[in-house]
Amino acid sequence: MFVKATSFANFALVKYWGKQDKEKIIPYNDSISITWDIFKTYTILETSSRFSFTLNNQRASTKESEKVKAFLRHFTDDVERVRVMSQNTFPTAAGLASSASAFSALAKAANHFFGCNYDSTTLEAITRKGSGSAVRSLYGGVVRWQRDGRVRTIDAPIEDYRLVVIMIDENKKAISSRDAMERTVATSPFFNAWVDQANTDANKMEHALKDGDFTQIGQIATQNAMTMHATMLAATPPILYLKDKSMEALALITELNNEGIECFYTLDAGSNVKVITTKTHVETLVKRLKSHQFTKLYQGKPSFKGAFISDEG
Ligand code: PMV
Repeated sequence: MFVKATSFANFALVKYWGKQDKEKIIPYNDSISITWDIFKTYTILETSSRFSFTLNNQRASTKESEKVKAFLRHFTDDVERVRVMSQNTFPTAAGLASSASAFSALAKAANHFFGCNYDSTTLEAITRKGSGSAVRSLYGGVVRWQRDGRVRTIDAPIEDYRLVVIMIDENKKAISSRDAMERTVATSPFFNAWVDQANTDANKMEHALKDGDFTQIGQIATQNAMTMHATMLAATPPILYLKDKSMEALALITELNNEGIECFYTLDAGSNVKVITTKTHVETLVKRLKSHQFTKLYQGKPSFKGAFISDEG
């Protein structure tokens, strides 16, 4: 038997940063993301005589294999009889939400492969254990993950929104988001302020998205991302993901937006900069970024599909 699932990355406009419950992966604050049609993961599960896990055509490390096995135990008692192959269409673990597309694809594939037919709440609870943000990639469009653990989609006019990712660094990040989050919760004096701010931002963001108020969405998203980074900078030892080139990009995006090229930026646990713009402005934006030597760009549109079974046999 063979099952293939496909899933997409999501990027948060209001970030998840901090676990209230480390076992169940329940966040301290609500987050809101858009699922994009770029940065995909394809995951295949196939009957086999023994367990193996291949990531991007290479045998995965023992640590990665153990993590996948532990995840699959939520679906079966017999993980030894499956071969797992996962392929990302982008650099893995570089702050491009690879864990979100990967674990949502794996959850969908396993649910089908092992015939569990878990309901959405159960599947969400399992998916979160792979990676918190992965729960948002189970769905398409705008998704809100609440601090009570529930996930819901939000109807908003985002069809014309466009994503441009400025690649600053394709290498694996120095500190995982899991470790960075824990350190922030434990040591940052700003953490409580972050939680209050993010929860307020999530409410405001939902309204702005529903109203299609691009300027307001941009203001909230950028401030939210910078507040998250400020909160981690205040941790001990400080967590610094941004590079000089990221800072240069941020200044440029602000300048271009002031010129009338509607766009705003957000940042995750990495140095790469995600810019959100509209269909009308995307071409000019890309031209201007390239003229400033930001040449490694990825472009995407919203995906209204979340993780899905793409093939079986
Ligand atoms: O899902 P994790 O544990 O990789 O955490 C992701 C955290 C951020 O990407 C920084 C924010 C978010 O909400 O996606």
